[in-house]
Amino acid sequence: MEGKKTLWKPAYLLEIDEIDDQHKRFFELCMEQSQLCERARKGEAITIRHIIRAMFALRNYAFYHFHTEEALLVKYRFPDVYGHIRLHDTFLRKLMEFSDELEGYVGVQDTEANALFLVLSDRLLGLCG
Ligand SMILES: [Fe+2]
Repeated sequence: MEGKKTLWKPAYLLEIDEIDDQHKRFFELCMEQSQLCERARKGEAITIRHIIRAMFALRNYAFYHFHTEEALLVKYRFPDVYGHIRLHDTFLRKLMEFSDELEGYVGVQDTEANALFLVLSDRLLGLCG
């Protein structure tokens, strides 16, 4: 991901402005987290707290985006609405597992992000596609 500004691709365009804009923002948040991890790996003083904040920005945005998207899927009677909602639920379940793991770092969040923590962060980014 080094050097890239976003993971979003034109192939993701749905021609629904509200959803397209939210997808772009979601991928920007993934990239912001990824860039923090890269900076930590290069030796910059990035604390666990910095990365946790980025992870929660991603988590909050996922809730917000799925709420918007599901409302539209129901409103316009998308053919596989439950299949799509199941995909969201799977993603959210994984996010909640991360939240549980992050709780273990509360006491050390002012320390610099170590390799073990960066692996956890990479796993979350792996969910972003
Ligand atoms: Fe979406």
